[in-house]
Amino acid sequence: MSDVRFDDRVVIITGAGNGLGKTYALEMGARGAKVVVNDLGGSAFGDGSDKAAADVVVDEIKAAGGEAVANYDSVTDGDKIVQTAMDTFGKIDIVVNNAGILRDKTFHKMTDTDWDLIYDVHVKGAYKVTHAAWPHMREQNYGRIIFTASAAGIYGNFGQTNYAMAKLGLHGMSQTLALEGRNKNVFVNTIAPIAGSRLTETVMPQEIVDALRPEFVMPLVLKLCDENSSETGGLYEVGAGWIGKVRWERTKGTNFSIKEGFTPEDVNDAWEEICDFTDADHPATIQESNRPIMMNLRAPE
Ligand code: NAI
Repeated sequence: MSDVRFDDRVVIITGAGNGLGKTYALEMGARGAKVVVNDLGGSAFGDGSDKAAADVVVDEIKAAGGEAVANYDSVTDGDKIVQTAMDTFGKIDIVVNNAGILRDKTFHKMTDTDWDLIYDVHVKGAYKVTHAAWPHMREQNYGRIIFTASAAGIYGNFGQTNYAMAKLGLHGMSQTLALEGRNKNVFVNTIAPIAGSRLTETVMPQEIVDALRPEFVMPLVLKLCDENSSETGGLYEVGAGWIGKVRWERTKGTNFSIKEGFTPEDVNDAWEEICDFTDADHPATIQESNRPIMMNLRAPE
């Protein structure tokens, strides 16, 4: 296996001033990438801004002999971040959508501001950066994109309706972009990480936060951004040195006769079979998903 290198590759890492993004930026910079270190420098809850967050990381990459430029825009102005890459380095090869905030509240206490801010930073921000980079990647027939989801989106998490909505939404975006980008050599994947950071220190004991180092997530992200990687459309859970891939699982399901009709009572009677995961399927495309539905439509009378 060849070394994972990023020589002459230009990478945007959003939210790279802290936590996970910072570790990606430092390691990609050390492995030859020209890095756009984006960070608004606000609080973990989305207030304020501070240029120092991005500047510190740029200085560290440069001190180690790498190339980097700071960008202080919010990801909601993603076109400006891509413009920084174009103006400074002349192209864009890799986007790591990583910037994030939290506004945890149980649903009955959630305000429109909590909902909108989470949507804006995670979903609209990732959309704006990716949408601005996309034509350049298509044009040059090369691109690698990472979206950052969360187990909260995959499984749900108490007090995080807004965050869970955004995080699973990103995986939906990623899966579709993987289809649209494949023939242009633009590969798109999603990670659901766990790492100690200022986002998790509010909900985890300090010793766990310290042990869950962001450096344990970094190798997967660099592997997926490698030019030798052909992975696309994947969803990976990662943290503490463990990496696994996630896929959808669906029961064999139950067929009802649409000619004879069927009732809620029939559904009740078949409930055990509908929910029985024995010999379950793993549809990987919308065509595979639709197959039993279309077959039931065409079932002989
Ligand atoms: P962090 O708070 O250490 O870093 C996030 C960075 O994003 C901060 O530097 C912040 O200034 C920046 N940022 C926030 N809003 C921004 C905006 N509008 N524009 C540009 N930059 C902005 O957090 P951490 O833990 O490193 O999180 C990184 C990503 O991983 C986030 O998307 C988060 O939701 C996700 N994640 C993290 C988990 C964890 O266990 N740490 C778990 C699941 C997901």
